[in-house]
Amino acid sequence: MASHGAPSLKPIYSNTRIMFSLLPGMGALIIFRLAIHLYRPDIEDAEHRVRDYPFEHLYDCYDFIIVGAGSAGAVLADRLTENPEWNVLLLEAGQDENVLSDIPVMFPVLQTSSIDWQFVTEPSDKYCLGMIDNRCKWPRGKVLGGSSALNAMLYIRGNKRDYDNWAAMGNPGWSYKDVLPYFLKSEDMKIPEYQSDPYHSTGGRLTIENFKYEQPITTNILEAGQELGYNILDVNGEYQTGFTRSHATVRDGLRCSTAKAFLRPAAKRPNLHVSVHSLVEKILIDEHKRAYGVKFVKHGIQKIVKAKREVILSSGALQSPQLLMLSGIGDAEHLKELGIFPISNLPGVGQNLQDHVAMGGNSFLFDNPFTNGSDYCFNLMSVFTITSLIDFSIHKKGPLYSMMEAEAMAFVNTKYQDPREDYPDIQLHIASTADNMDGGIFGKRANGLTDEIYAELYEDVLFQSAFSIVPLLLQPKSRGYLKLRDSNPYSPPRIYANYYSHPDDIKIMIEGARIVAALAEQPALRKLNTRPNPNRITGCAKHRLMSDEHLECLARHHTLTIYHPVGTCAMGPPDDPAAVYGVKNLRVVDGSIMPKITNGNTNAPIIMIAEKASDMIKEDWYDTKDELTGCISGPYSRQHESKPDDEPSKVNLDNHRPDLFNETSSLFPNLPVDTPLHHTKDSKTTITTSRPPMISREYEARYKEYVPMPDVPEKRQNDLSDILRNDLTPLYQIVYPAKYFMDRNTPTLQSYPYWSADSQSHRRPNQRFLSNTNPFKKYKPTDYPTRPSLSRQFKNALPFKNPFAFKYPPKRPKEEPVVYEMNEVDSPGGQKNCKIWLYYDGVKYEVTL
Ligand SMILES: Cc1cc2nc3c(=O)[nH]c(=O)nc-3n(C[C@H](O)[C@H](O)[C@H](O)COP(=O)(O)OP(=O)(O)OC[C@H]3O[C@@H](n4cnc5c(N)ncnc54)[C@H](O)[C@@H]3O)c2cc1C
Ligand SMILES: *[C@@H]1O[C@H](CO)[C@@H](O)[C@H](O)[C@H]1NC(C)=O
Repeated sequence: MASHGAPSLKPIYSNTRIMFSLLPGMGALIIFRLAIHLYRPDIEDAEHRVRDYPFEHLYDCYDFIIVGAGSAGAVLADRLTENPEWNVLLLEAGQDENVLSDIPVMFPVLQTSSIDWQFVTEPSDKYCLGMIDNRCKWPRGKVLGGSSALNAMLYIRGNKRDYDNWAAMGNPGWSYKDVLPYFLKSEDMKIPEYQSDPYHSTGGRLTIENFKYEQPITTNILEAGQELGYNILDVNGEYQTGFTRSHATVRDGLRCSTAKAFLRPAAKRPNLHVSVHSLVEKILIDEHKRAYGVKFVKHGIQKIVKAKREVILSSGALQSPQLLMLSGIGDAEHLKELGIFPISNLPGVGQNLQDHVAMGGNSFLFDNPFTNGSDYCFNLMSVFTITSLIDFSIHKKGPLYSMMEAEAMAFVNTKYQDPREDYPDIQLHIASTADNMDGGIFGKRANGLTDEIYAELYEDVLFQSAFSIVPLLLQPKSRGYLKLRDSNPYSPPRIYANYYSHPDDIKIMIEGARIVAALAEQPALRKLNTRPNPNRITGCAKHRLMSDEHLECLARHHTLTIYHPVGTCAMGPPDDPAAVYGVKNLRVVDGSIMPKITNGNTNAPIIMIAEKASDMIKEDWYDTKDELTGCISGPYSRQHESKPDDEPSKVNLDNHRPDLFNETSSLFPNLPVDTPLHHTKDSKTTITTSRPPMISREYEARYKEYVPMPDVPEKRQNDLSDILRNDLTPLYQIVYPAKYFMDRNTPTLQSYPYWSADSQSHRRPNQRFLSNTNPFKKYKPTDYPTRPSLSRQFKNALPFKNPFAFKYPPKRPKEEPVVYEMNEVDSPGGQKNCKIWLYYDGVKYEVTL
């Protein structure tokens, strides 16, 4: 980040603003969750949800043990238990799917939640330069459904050539004509025009639809695509090159993860046991190099379970190789360094890491043609409202059904790719929104963009109508790799993404950005006065706009993963040194087996891989005599129990009352606690503050050592019904904080009603700043100019002689000023003031606004 020369207060100001509007806050989410509980039993789906099999009733031996219930693992569990003779144990480190993750608009919020493993790459000086600590965030699902339970739901099969290439690389049976039947097998196509198309099928487990809600701007962008010379077509059909409305793994507009699609229907089979919160620490391998079981831990208790036929690793492209290495399978030198006994020297494990890298920041402003106040693009502030909540809960429609990050997409060719080959080298994700439209709450947080860069790019164009188009490199030549950090199964692996290490990759990305610029120039977008965001990253501003140097600089700063790491346990012919082989009764089935990444999003291909693998496994074990293997699978394997028929009793659905409060707050442990609600025994609802939302999470992680966190006493609060009756439900809180900065010149603050009654003596740090203006008032762009004056006030109030005297970014983290608390205080005359406490170089400062 050495490239950010000019010291500026903007980042602090920006961070401060975001702190006040950390959205959607916990209170809003709990109300959202409550509305679903009351009005949408179809989403709760209590009857079909997968139930955790009681730990003490697990068998000691199963025919198959599947590690990881993700995109691949859920499919395998379903297909293998079709054979009633086989007992299958599915072990998943994460929890059951959460109800909120079904809602498409929640997509960005799920990242960094408790269903995300929250991996980050090792720091680099070549990419992710605009991200905190030069690390890219790599979310992965830790939940039933795995990454399919938090992904963007885009359904893309890839290019026919991908599979023909796999076959040509020495993998017979994987050509396009071989794999197409497996795509069709799982598909339930709901888009009418494709239902009787030879490339699609109906009646499968996995529902494919278009997203249910679309912003008007998307139509303009698709039109612009046609004006640029591309067709609108089915990119999962005969040809891939062109534009399309996204095909999505959604059912009735709601997420259709593999847990929903495959596991829920299979979960009632007596031969499938699903155990959540079960982290596999090691695959057990005997002296004949045969995998005979796994060691896993649930709720702190270790258990060994044996596999009669196979252990199947479906832990994803990061954790399947991690688990192999932890179990002694990998590069022997690396394992020895960490004190792991190498059982099988396979240097290919963890190598060949491929991902789809993209370039963020391609945001375009435009003039909203609607004059009646409606939005033309996705605007977070007008989406999280009571109206849309009612639309969603009662009318099953509205913007909460939107997946604004990719309502449409395109596969295009740069000048390096012959269009006649129909093997496009760039994919465009077409977002009906841009990072300025969420005030930094969604995109910035999910990607880990620094405060400085967010402020530079968006602070003065906040909430102005905008869209963005993200170009992504489809066929990267760069290869990364994974290493173990240590021999602890709970340590995240070291991830070396190595983006742009091959020079061709950056060249193609630069051309991808040019295609995006050309698209924005087309008449359908011109007529909305579409223009690129005029703000530039300081570190790149020295280059001529749109020059190769400028675009390269942007690509290296605003680097985004499109979340498709694959290839780390690649399949290949036996003579391929990179291919992963060598242990009997052990199989890897997930994204890590791809020898080369597919030309598009990876979920559908991985589901296909698992469908095909299931058939391969069934074939391999067809007609095999049971004496061939070790343990006896099934209930008789339980040595400690006498009667095999004492299965756990059925769960009584009548008593199924979810604990909405704890459920939601445990899903988002990192969200600010605006109104954390806890259920008490007498079933009265109380509100307590658990932790003040003073500094953004990133800061918190970095400064924990330096910044003392004040303790917040607990407060008894209103009954839930009061909150709902109250006009100022937490939902309004998410509209308010932003309004606060937009509508008001003087930050006069009022206490939130909950707190006014008996909290006079108590200073609550996570104060909500609410004005008594009408919450329904629509803000207009003309309301914005109040912001600079606020920032001026802030600046004047700073205790430094010269506000620019401190270095930003700091040399040592200790020197960076940290806002660690905000509060309202009474001032003479009954007016309220805002105080901000800063921590800078070992000294605390108090700022009054
Ligand atoms: C934020 C995001 C957005 C995405 N968007 C899209 C999209 O729109 N379209 C698309 O096609 N693809 C998308 N992808 C990619 C796609 O979802 C993944 O490629 C795919 O889900 C990976 O499937 P998998 O089976 O290989 O691994 P996963 O689905 O990640 O499953 C691995 C499972 O194993 C579990 N596990 C790991 N280690 C252990 C252990 N030691 N013990 C027990 N369990 C363990 C994990 O908790 C997880 O549930 C996205 C991914 C992410 C993260
Ligand atoms: C505003 O006008 C557009 C286009 O005519 C229409 O679709 C939208 O519903 C209108 N909004 C309101 C609030 O009337």
